[in-house]
Amino acid sequence: MNLHLPSRAGLWCAAALSAAVLGFGSAAFSAEPEKAHPTTNSSGALLPRDSKDAAVFRGGLVYANYCVTCHGINADGNGRAARLYNPKPANLRMSDKNDAYYGLIIRKGGAALARSEFMPAWEAELTHEQITDLVAYLRSINAAKS
Ligand code: HEC
Repeated sequence: MNLHLPSRAGLWCAAALSAAVLGFGSAAFSAEPEKAHPTTNSSGALLPRDSKDAAVFRGGLVYANYCVTCHGINADGNGRAARLYNPKPANLRMSDKNDAYYGLIIRKGGAALARSEFMPAWEAELTHEQITDLVAYLRSINAAKS
């Protein structure tokens, strides 16, 4: 009997561990459903690479890497570094600018458009696709979605 104990204990550990992992996974997912940009459609198929949803998903990743510090996790202009700048980083959810303007200010930076020099120019840093993905992402989170 005692011989079975280690393997049973091992099984219990594995079960507890996978329950914890699965539990955490679904909790994180359901906590903020509007922020979860799925990479699959409702039947589980991967999104086509050139679909709008895939561009929004990729753009969100670029945003999280390059823009969050100033514009904030909620894109409301309240990133950790926002208080260093005057004018503040724009609230990108409430922006009234069109996609062409987004592309321009992201590529050329604020100064080129007579805006704050603290909005950096990203054209040397990001690829064309990363920038068009960012524009798709910004449009998807815009309050007006115009
Ligand atoms: C160092 C801080 C900083 C970083 C990093 C930054 N921005 Fe900005 N951004 C600003 C500031 C400041 C403004 C406001 C300029 C003004 O009002 O003159 C701005 C303005 C903008 C605007 C104009 C919005 C509007 O409605 O006029 C867009 C779009 C934008 N940023 C996108 C981005 C994106 C996308 C990234 C990441 C690739 C990014 N920014 C990274 C500081 C930053």
